[in-house]
Parts: sequence; C-alpha cells; structure tokens
Amino acid sequence: MDETELALNRARWDEVAESHRLSYDTQALIDQPDRISEQVAADAELLAPWLPGGSVAGLDLIHLQCHIGHDSLGWARLGARVTGLDMSAESLRVARELAAQAGIAAEFVQSTIARAGEALAGRSFDLVYTSVGVLCWLDDLDGWAKLIAQLLRPGGLFLVRDDHPMAAALDETAPPGELRLGWPYFNVGPISEESTADYSSATPLVNAKTWEWAHSLGETIGALLRAGLIIRDYQEYQSLPWRRLEWMEPADDGWRYALPRAVRDRCPLEFSLIATKAG
Ligand SMILES: C[S@@+](CC[C@H](N)C(=O)[O-])C[C@H]1O[C@@H](n2cnc3c(N)ncnc32)[C@H](O)[C@@H]1O
Repeated sequence: MDETELALNRARWDEVAESHRLSYDTQALIDQPDRISEQVAADAELLAPWLPGGSVAGLDLIHLQCHIGHDSLGWARLGARVTGLDMSAESLRVARELAAQAGIAAEFVQSTIARAGEALAGRSFDLVYTSVGVLCWLDDLDGWAKLIAQLLRPGGLFLVRDDHPMAAALDETAPPGELRLGWPYFNVGPISEESTADYSSATPLVNAKTWEWAHSLGETIGALLRAGLIIRDYQEYQSLPWRRLEWMEPADDGWRYALPRAVRDRCPLEFSLIATKAG
C-alpha cells in the first residue's frame, strides 16, 4: 500500500469516527454496566468451545482494526485484558473517551497493520480478534497472517469475522432482488472507490475517495495456513451486520440484514474463521 492510499483511507476513518460514536449505540455502553454489543455476544459464543472455561475472562486479547473500540470494550466487559489497535487517531480518541465514560479499562495503540509488529514491541496475546469490515482495507494478507502468528502465544486463539468475498463482489446498483457480480472476487490490486455516503450519517463526507482490496477466500485461508496457523472452524452466514445492498431485509435475529427469502440461499454474506497457533 503506498502512502497516498494509506493517507486517503486514514482520512476517511478519521472523518467518520465522531459520527460512529452516535450510530454505534455507544450511549447504551456507557449507561448500562453490563451492556456488550450483539457482535461481541455472538463471537463470545462462537469462541466458547475453544476457550479455557468457555470464557475470555483473564485472557490478553488484542482487537485489530478496533475502530472506536465499541467491541473492544465489550470484550473487556467479559473480563479480557484488552488492547485495541487501529491506524485512525480520531477513532482511537473516541475509543479512549468511551472507555473513560463507561469506566472500562482498555489500552488503545495507534498503528497500521503493516507496522503493528513494531508498535507492539514483542508483546503477545492469548486471543487475536478482528471483525466486520477489516480485510478490504489491507493489501498484504500474508503480512497480516504473519502478524497474527507473531502476536499469538503458543496455543493462542484467532477469530476473524468479515464480509464474504462473494457478497463484496455483488453489484449494489443491480435492481432489487437481482444478484449480479459488479466487483472482482479475486485480488486485482488496489480498487479506487469514490463515495460521499457512509452507513452512519446522512451528511456527505469530505473524504470521498478510498482504496480497497478484494480478497478471495483462497487468499485469506492460504495466508493463514502459510503463517502456520491451524484452522479449527469456518462458517458462512446468510446475514450481515450492515446493509450491503439497499434492498436487504432485517434478518430474523433483529440486528442483522439478509437477502430477500427468494434469493437468500444463493450467496453467502459473511464468514467466520477460528484458528489456533500450535502449542
Ligand atoms: C469498518 S472499521 C472496523 C469496524 C469495527 N468492526 C467496529 O465495528 O467498530 C475498519 C477499521 O480499520 C481501520 N484500518 C483500515 N486500514 C487499516 C490499516 N492498514 N491498519 C490499521 N487499521 C486500519 C480503520 O481505521 C477503521 O477503524
């Protein structure tokens, strides 16, 4: 990733950090001492069979690309010692404020994924977590996977949950009900996107241009295997926590979105993968 691509992406994430404070229901996190996000609740359940005593309590957890720390703070509420890492200074400013307002202890480190090894200076963790809208911002998945292997202690656990690359390839301009491919499934290098819209706010964004990367499942899974990680679980889902296509419908669980029933079984929307580092 060159410096221009990185700077544009960082500017976008810095710009949206403050509006995400409102759209992420952060007030509930502050007001309700036992509140955690639906995402963290679901992922804690997914991880439970792999965790000592079924819980993250007492574990050192790093949340990569933690954004405003909404989910990082949820993991801390479940008893993990949490470090959140993100390249966006504004996101981390909001994350630190939220932690203080909610009275939750968590550390936030500013770094790109590419530089995270240096930024964390030899630290290691029991659990590496990253989820929802993360892989498309990274150009080098081999570097990402090596970082995860480096950060994990022997026997440590890794969970990634993200948009399924088939869902990412869907054409958002297709008419309602029509599944049409409009974006690459495979990594073709940086893809420039130009949009003043953000899922959180009606106000047009100033930083419209971003650079993203498509990653096939083969690329993601291959990178993790080449880094020496052992894949323990892989799942695909018919819903997503955001409205990838305008005509998606609220899913049965009430907090995610799914394709209309007529085409729901045609395309996976999200995947999760659990891996471990050999003990
Ligand atoms: C979609 S958000 C993640 C949202 C998170 N799942 C949540 O719900 O809060 C993507 C995050 O990745 C961060 N990011 C993008 N590229 C990055 C990079 N190369 N290194 C580190 N962080 C990066 C952005 O700053 C942003 O906070």
